[in-house]
Amino acid sequence: MTKRYAIILAAGQGTRMKSKLYKVLHPVLGKPMVQHVLEQVKAIGLEDVITVVGFGSDKVKDHLGNNTKFVLQEEQLGTGHAVIQAEELLKDKKGTTIVVCGDTPLITKETFEQLCEHHEKTGSKATILTAKAPNPFGYGRVIRNERNEVKRIVEQKDANPDELLVDEINTGTYCFDNEALFEALKSVSNDNSQGEYYLTDVIEIMKNKSEMVSAYLIPNFDETLGVNDRVALAQAEKTMKLRINEQHMRNGVTIMDPDNTYIHSDVVIEPDVVIYPGSIIGGNSIIRSNAIIGPNSEIQNCEVGEDSVVKQSVATDSKIGKRVNVGPFAHIRPDAIIGDEAKIGNFVEIKKAELGNGTKVSHLSYIGDAKVGSNVNIGCGTITVNYDGKNKYLTTIEDDAFIGCNSNLIAPVTIGKGSYVAAGSTITKDVPTDALSVARARQSNKEGYASKLKNRLKDKE
Ligand code: UD1
Ligand code: CA
Repeated sequence: MTKRYAIILAAGQGTRMKSKLYKVLHPVLGKPMVQHVLEQVKAIGLEDVITVVGFGSDKVKDHLGNNTKFVLQEEQLGTGHAVIQAEELLKDKKGTTIVVCGDTPLITKETFEQLCEHHEKTGSKATILTAKAPNPFGYGRVIRNERNEVKRIVEQKDANPDELLVDEINTGTYCFDNEALFEALKSVSNDNSQGEYYLTDVIEIMKNKSEMVSAYLIPNFDETLGVNDRVALAQAEKTMKLRINEQHMRNGVTIMDPDNTYIHSDVVIEPDVVIYPGSIIGGNSIIRSNAIIGPNSEIQNCEVGEDSVVKQSVATDSKIGKRVNVGPFAHIRPDAIIGDEAKIGNFVEIKKAELGNGTKVSHLSYIGDAKVGSNVNIGCGTITVNYDGKNKYLTTIEDDAFIGCNSNLIAPVTIGKGSYVAAGSTITKDVPTDALSVARARQSNKEGYASKLKNRLKDKE
């Protein structure tokens, strides 16, 4: 089998984005564009991937890590010049080299595979991935000769009026015979309207040497969208969102309003989950079967167990068990582990806390840095006082304890198994197993005092 390599062009600053952030790092559904490209192209099986990065693009390296090699293009002198930077690592290699731009995040692994197969089957030295664009403005146009063979690519800014009418565009993705690519690049000049070394010129160079160049036209233009500005970024987001949502729906997930549901590409959702509008599910979240998400929930990097409900709530980096009820208006912050059949009600915040099975925190509470057993009932307005301004301390509440409303549990503290804390208590010492702890001022009633007070106030008028 032919060996395959890939070069990802990601050195451009992306002036048209008008952003301090490198263009290829702008996220589409929560993931940088260039990372989508890298993941899809790598999925077809490659010997090597090289990403061309620009001066100061350390952040691109941070994001992609050791999933690719990097070469630096110090000055952005054009896409041809960018590819030349990879020569050192790829010269002498025999096989197919895919070149793809870091700003075309929607191209799928299936398309990369079909492009390579077409290229290798036809024995071409270069194969351009092309598409018919409804509005070709801004793209390079594919110019064919009278025999309909690809002759060259002309950039928007260099095209004559006839060429501008061509609607077959260069998607910026190609397969090349590796050795022929670097040979042809030696002849590329910067004699054009932008003064750049265009990669696209290698097509004409090869054709003039009577080498075979071809095009692989894909029917779906949407997939080849190149993101140069924020308008295209929004289009990319929309296309990818609908593509992902459709996959989930075909797998048995109900999505009430696919236009208003944002599921990132690495999320796993089991059948019979129902997702209401306005929900965002990101990171490496797993939503187990029969769960109900939303409306308006944001879940990042969480596992949500079978039959659980997360309604109008935010949950991050946490694990939620089975048949759990969350929300409306709950906030589950990182490192929470919520047991099965637990309840996290309205205006409850949970952070770095483990809650056992069947435990209920139904209203208006803050549970942070805590280990809570099973079947604990935490009354309305309870606070784990975990922070002294410098350090955080643990609150332990053992199984079957009952915490009365409006209690402060001043950590470090342990509430023993089966014990009661009276409403309104401020607990500073451990409560033993099976004890009732009352830690509030004793009530005194002064009979008839109210009318006396009123009369006194009246006399003063
Ligand atoms: C390019 C193609 C055009 C095609 C379009 C598809 C050329 C000359 N033109 O145009 O035919 O229709 O893509 O989207 O190739 N880059 C570098 N170094 C550079 C310049 C660019 O790494 O010196 C990178 C950019 O980061 C980007 C990619 O190459 O990811 C494409 O560059 P861009 O400036 O967006 O090219 P287009 O004008 O879109
Ligand atoms: Ca582009």
